Amino acid sequence: MTISQKVQKIAPSLTLEITAKAKKLKAEGVSVIGFGAGEPDFNTPEYINNSAKKAIDDGFTKYTPASGMVELKKAICEKFKKDNGLEYVPEQIVISTGAKSSLYHAICAIIDDGDQVILPSPYWLTYPELVGLAGGETVYVKTDKSTGYKMTASQLKSAITNKTKALILNSPNNPTGSVYTKEEIIEIAKVCQEYGLYVVSDEIYEKLIYDGEEHYSIASVNEYMKEHTIVINGVSKSYAMTGWRIGYLAAPIKIAKAISSMQSHTTSNACSISQYASVTALTAPEGDEFISKMQKIFDDRRKFMIEKLSKFENIEIAKPSGAFYVFIDVSKNYGKSYDGSVINGSMSFADLALKEGVALIPGVAFGDDNCVRLSYAISMEDIEEGLNRLNAFLSKLK
Ligand SMILES: Cc1ncc(COP(=O)(O)O)c(C=O)c1O
Repeated sequence: MTISQKVQKIAPSLTLEITAKAKKLKAEGVSVIGFGAGEPDFNTPEYINNSAKKAIDDGFTKYTPASGMVELKKAICEKFKKDNGLEYVPEQIVISTGAKSSLYHAICAIIDDGDQVILPSPYWLTYPELVGLAGGETVYVKTDKSTGYKMTASQLKSAITNKTKALILNSPNNPTGSVYTKEEIIEIAKVCQEYGLYVVSDEIYEKLIYDGEEHYSIASVNEYMKEHTIVINGVSKSYAMTGWRIGYLAAPIKIAKAISSMQSHTTSNACSISQYASVTALTAPEGDEFISKMQKIFDDRRKFMIEKLSKFENIEIAKPSGAFYVFIDVSKNYGKSYDGSVINGSMSFADLALKEGVALIPGVAFGDDNCVRLSYAISMEDIEEGLNRLNAFLSKLK
């Protein structure tokens, strides 16, 4: 049996590789502090859990419409209106099995073989794989610390060719934690409008934002952008519901219909119980309080990390103002050695740091080999201990 060309091209996950090594060490009894977490370290709030229990008891365990139940679509429309000033009708919403699934369906719906999709780099590693599966080609726009890892409008313009179909935008960003300002979004939107690009805007970290920054959706720039943008969001990060697998998108009706018919043949509806619980997540009055508590805890950890890391030698940090990641440039250490092994990139940096009991995600997985990603979705005690170990590792490099 041969594997299809499209699937053969899927890269093995480098994040999983280092996480697996860390897990193996832990299983052997070695103490490892893992900075790899990609999900909030909070439990789903009880009032949401209770509503799922009620859904089961009430027999809400059957198929729903493939694109999702109307009550949840209505709650999502309300959310878009309240948080983003965006007016959608339920027919424009498709609810999927996690935002990852929303992204896949969205990309498949707009990308033909050979179409180019622009992606600012560093990027969340799933995007290029989804573009590849849809038959498209990813065109990377390299960003660095000088712009806080944000793509400028002129960089976008320079990357456009006659094959460019779409832009993937992710703010707040994984892995850099950067957040595009309203002004930056407007400048990018002008270029998209000038060249007729579609935008897939992944706003999953919308609620995790700090330093008084505000999330601004590119779909809200004007009616043209709304008609050319597919907004992706979900309950995974905002309500600590990663395992429930509910993501959603908002799109022009024609696109939403196409996506929902595609989904009717791939996954069909997302879990009915999770959908029911998501209505509660989005509408219950307790929601805002839960989010602001979680946001405050993340912010305290973020500040602590930035303060500590900024005192470390030979690392550079672009202050993140969103999500729960710090992306640090460790390239000044390349060429040095640890225990006789030379560091020649983010992979070997992460590999050797593991020997000091600290697991980091190599930036090469996100398209930037100068950096490593640290998640602060772990306890303050672990952050403190992990950073001490990282510092000890740095001081041992020769
Ligand atoms: C940028 C980004 N988008 C989407 C997702 C996927 O979200 P979900 O768990 O809802 O599929 C993640 C998860 O890590 C993410 O980091």
